[in-house]
Amino acid sequence: MKSSSVRILGLGAFVPEKVLTNFDLEKMVDTSDEWIRTRTGIQERHIAEPGTAASDLGAKAALEALAQANLKATQIDLIIVATATPDMTFPSTGCVIQQKIGAVCPAFDLSAACSGFVYGLSVAEAYIRSGLHKHILVIGTEITSSFIDWKDRATCVLFGDGAGAAVLGVSDKGPELLGSYLGSDGEQADILKVPAGGSALPLTSENIKEGLQYLKMSGGDVFKIAVRTMDEAIQKICQCAQITPAQIDCLIPHQANLRILQAVADRVKLPIEKVFINVERYGNMSAASTVVALYEAAKFGKLKNGQHVVLVAFGGGLTWGANIIRW
Ligand code: ACO
Repeated sequence: MKSSSVRILGLGAFVPEKVLTNFDLEKMVDTSDEWIRTRTGIQERHIAEPGTAASDLGAKAALEALAQANLKATQIDLIIVATATPDMTFPSTGCVIQQKIGAVCPAFDLSAACSGFVYGLSVAEAYIRSGLHKHILVIGTEITSSFIDWKDRATCVLFGDGAGAAVLGVSDKGPELLGSYLGSDGEQADILKVPAGGSALPLTSENIKEGLQYLKMSGGDVFKIAVRTMDEAIQKICQCAQITPAQIDCLIPHQANLRILQAVADRVKLPIEKVFINVERYGNMSAASTVVALYEAAKFGKLKNGQHVVLVAFGGGLTWGANIIRW
């Protein structure tokens, strides 16, 4: 066994029970199922009940990933939680999940918006290769409904809540993480952000009245940059694994919008049949999106031994990145 072989030992996912369809949204804002489907591909999304925290969803996904890995929570020696909707400013959602699942190890949160899980895999890969940690739980979990303005039709139709988790470790069998590539550009911070609630603009009754606690997005700009950066990340990760994009067997992208995924597939000349898509059922689950898609692709038997599987994402920051896995 190569001591540096980083493998995925288990995967888990959890979404809240409540489903919000496009037809439900028609009753809430001036929109239509037809507009949402043709512009985004989304048909429904899952929304958590009030009082549910990102850690609740993340803990459930983590327990499933641990069971699949045949490991106890006490055998995990690091927890990384990617989220843009932490339970609170601190303690970290990582620490809350550590307590909920009964782990005894360091835990921290990672902030890279929708690219969070891809970033998290890269961090876990580096820790494992360094020999510092043996079994790492990487979780992407979001209550995106907590930063949604339900009166803003331009954004409220796009998002959903959910969580996914992966256990990574050194092993002689299982899908092997071959490499990761990350990018970011703070120059573009303003096109996708939640302006208030941090130290730059603490919440006040005035800025709450202005709705600055909600997600703001320049949709057209995000669309163009998302396509360009995901193309770049795919090219770079293929170079890293010494393959061409045509040799990707399954592309698992961040599920923001079906039209973005079609544009990325066109740009890298990959048949759309090789792109795993579940945006129609979940909308954009931010950091949970790529890991839930990976979980479903594996569960539905889409991934076969020896295949090249590429995860790719973009998000607020801006951030983007990719991971390549030999299944
Ligand atoms: N229902 C009906 N009409 C709508 C809706 C809606 N839900 N939302 C906007 N419109 C209207 C607009 O008001 C506009 O009307 P107007 O022409 O009278 O002004 C018209 O539809 C067209 O609006 P556009 O914004 O030009 O629509 P576009 O085709 O660009 O689609 C969309 C908008 C879907 C948001 C697209 O720009 C997009 O997908 N962008 C990327 C979004 C994204 O991926 N975000 C992810 C970021 S989150 C993250 O990664 C952390």
